[in-house]
Amino acid sequence: MTDLWSYLPLSACIHADCRLQCPLAVDVRSEDRKMAAAILSGKIALVTGGGSGIGREICKVLARDGARVVIGDRNGNAARETRDLLINPDTHMDIVLDVKERESVMSAIHATVKKYSSPPSLAANAAGITKDNFLLKMDDTSFMDVIDVNLKGTYIVTQIVAGALLQAGINEGSIVNISSLVAKNGNIGQSNYAASKAGVIAFSQTAAKELSRLGIRVNALLPGFIETPMVKTVPDKLRDRFLTLISAQRFGKPEEIAEVVSFLLSNKSSYITGAAIEVTGGLNF
Ligand SMILES: NC(=O)c1ccc[n+]([C@@H]2O[C@H](COP(=O)([O-])OP(=O)(O)OC[C@H]3O[C@@H](n4cnc5c(N)ncnc54)[C@H](O)[C@@H]3O)[C@@H](O)[C@H]2O)c1
Repeated sequence: MTDLWSYLPLSACIHADCRLQCPLAVDVRSEDRKMAAAILSGKIALVTGGGSGIGREICKVLARDGARVVIGDRNGNAARETRDLLINPDTHMDIVLDVKERESVMSAIHATVKKYSSPPSLAANAAGITKDNFLLKMDDTSFMDVIDVNLKGTYIVTQIVAGALLQAGINEGSIVNISSLVAKNGNIGQSNYAASKAGVIAFSQTAAKELSRLGIRVNALLPGFIETPMVKTVPDKLRDRFLTLISAQRFGKPEEIAEVVSFLLSNKSSYITGAAIEVTGGLNF
C-alpha cells in the first residue's frame, strides 16, 4: 500500500473530498487545518455587533483562526454569551459598546489596550439595525436612528481604531465594514437602511484611500439574504419571493459571511482594499 501511494503525486490526495483512504491525505488535511488556524494568530480583532447573527459567527471564526477577539455589543449579555461559545473564552473579552457613541467606542479601545497592551489591528463592523417603513410613512427618528448606528457607527469605529493604531506606531491593519446588497439596488421599505449601507460602501472606499499610507486596508462586504435574527421578521411571502431571485436557491448562513470576513482581515487578502465584495449566493434584484 505504501508503494502505491508513493507513486501518486501529492496533489492526488489533497482534495477535500478525497475518498481514496490515502494515509497521506489525512496528514495533509490536518496540516491544512493547522495552517488555517494560524492565519490570524497574534492579532487582536474588534467585532461590533458580536452578540448576534453575523457578528457572533465572525467572532467564532476569528477565534478559530487564532485571533484574540474583543466582542462589542450594546447588549452586554449577548456579548458574554458569544464569548462563552468561543475557543479558549478566557483569551477573549466581551464589552458593552454602543457604536454611535464616541465615548463608548473610546472606552472599548482603552479596555482593549489595558488587557492586551495593544489596540486592535483588525476590526469588523457588524453592528446594525433596521427600522423599516415605506418612504411616505417614514419618520425622521426612524430614518436617523438607522443612519446613526449603521453609518455613523461605522465611521466612529473606523476612525478610532485607525487613530489608535497610528498612535501605537502599528502600521498594519485591516477593517471590514458590513454593508448590504440593498446598497446597490435599494429595497422597498428600506430607504433609511439602503441609504446607510450605500454610505458604508462610499465611506469604506474613501477610508481605504486615506488609510493605505498607514498600512490599513478597508473593505466593504455586501451580504445578500442571511438567516439571522435581523431577518426573522421578514414576512413569509417576501422570503419566498427573495428565494426565487437567489441563484444558490437558499438563504445564506452567517458563517458564510464570517469566512469571507476572516479572509479579508488576514494577510491572505493583502492586495484587496477599497473593494465592495458581494456574498449573496447570486442574489439579483
Ligand atoms: N441578515 C442579513 O440578511 C443581512 C444582510 C445584509 C447586511 N446585514 C448586516 O449585517 C450586520 C449584522 O446583521 P445581523 O443580521 O447579524 O443582525 P442581528 O440583529 O442578528 O445582530 C446585530 C447586532 O448588532 C447589535 N447592535 C445594534 N445596534 C448596536 C449599537 N448601536 N452598538 C453596538 N451593537 C449594536 C445588536 O445588539 C445585535 O447583537 C448588520 O450590519 C446588518 O445590517 C445583514
